[in-house]
Amino acid sequence: MKVLVVGGGGREHTLVWKISQSPRVRQVFCAPGNAGIARLATCVPIGAEDLEGLLDFARREAIDLTVVGPEAPLVAGIVDMFTAAGLRIFGPTRAAARLEGSKVWAKQVMSRYGVPTARFAVFDAPEAAKAHIREVGAPIVVKADGLAAGKGAIVCGDVESALRAVDTIMVEKAFGASGDRVVVEECLTGEEVSVLVFTDGRDFVPMVSSQDHKPVYDGDRGPNTGGMGAYAPAPVYTPEVHEAVMRDIVAPVLRGLAAEGHPYRGVLYAGLMVTGEGPKVLEFNCRFGDPEAQPVLMLLESDLVPVLEAVVEGRLREAEVRWKEGAAVCVVMASGGYPGSYRKGFPIEGLEEVPPDVVVFHAGTAFRDGRVVTAGGRVLGVTAYGPDIRTAIDRAYAAVERIRFKGMHYRRDIGWRALARLEGRQQT
Ligand code: AMP
Ligand code: GLY
Repeated sequence: MKVLVVGGGGREHTLVWKISQSPRVRQVFCAPGNAGIARLATCVPIGAEDLEGLLDFARREAIDLTVVGPEAPLVAGIVDMFTAAGLRIFGPTRAAARLEGSKVWAKQVMSRYGVPTARFAVFDAPEAAKAHIREVGAPIVVKADGLAAGKGAIVCGDVESALRAVDTIMVEKAFGASGDRVVVEECLTGEEVSVLVFTDGRDFVPMVSSQDHKPVYDGDRGPNTGGMGAYAPAPVYTPEVHEAVMRDIVAPVLRGLAAEGHPYRGVLYAGLMVTGEGPKVLEFNCRFGDPEAQPVLMLLESDLVPVLEAVVEGRLREAEVRWKEGAAVCVVMASGGYPGSYRKGFPIEGLEEVPPDVVVFHAGTAFRDGRVVTAGGRVLGVTAYGPDIRTAIDRAYAAVERIRFKGMHYRRDIGWRALARLEGRQQT
């Protein structure tokens, strides 16, 4: 079969890598892809948000299965569009993708089904939001309702910064119309974990748990990024936590959406805080995480393609989903200045020196004059497997040390919470 992957980051390189290993697949296309993806797939210059262009291409090439990486095309309704055209596509419909597309809607769904999450209030005018913030005090979290490229949640340690966050989102419209409404919510404390499930709208199969590292610097300092690294599985996600997440979060949400006439098909990503009162939802995403997909899919032993097909065809129950023992770690190498402004076009050296048991997933890269150059904020996701997390971390960093590009930076402590937990050290 012919498969089209939509997107061009590290997550999409991982999807292409895994999909291209399937004996069921004859050819893989990626729109728009990147320099790493181009070694495994035919890249086509169509943007991930050009829905018409993607549909035209899929029709013309008679694509058998389209797999969507990023959230924007899902929230814009690419699945509805392809399905109406008789094309098979993996991901939730526009209505179901509102779980990520509207934080207000996601909160209301959680309220309807008694799903544990931070206490919240919704506002469509800045003055009312500010009055509420003054009344309840800090710490507090202010979130733009709509998509904001992962930057729409502002955690505020004091009332002043929360009031400023309201202005940034609702008055200055830093995220455009996504800031027409805000969710103001309780600040939760604990350890975060990402839990992804495959679901066909009725049944669901959990993936191994994972943990992202959002702040740019070691020790979780500095501004948030799209994610500076991830590992799987996450020791904080104990069997007890898993049971609570499946029973109190995943099952009721999927059952509720199906009952409301919007069955959710695809990957449901629950971003959770494991608090003293158990796991609570921070957010839902309607897709694989980036960089969580890198370690998670490295641990998937089964062929991914039959799983994706089973989801699309509503027969997930029949699919085989087996995971490897051991752990995987992804270290992100970023451009100098990221997550602020950065320059592109620097040659990347040392890629050929990376040992064969480590996979360098490309995020922001391009070809120029026959060389691989930087082309984004997050450039590479160096990903290694190990029989245990310590070995996986060591292998990933040994490979990272082989790679060089001007201005590069990366965190040196990816996986520290897992190590601390396993070694019984105090968490900070
Ligand atoms: P979100 O986009 O909603 O996942 O938020 C991005 C990040 O902000 C999360 O990964 C958390 O680190 C943080 N965050 C979001 N909501 C809360 C909350 N209610 N309490 C504490 N931290 C939060
Ligand atoms: N790594 C966070 C996300 O994919 O949203």
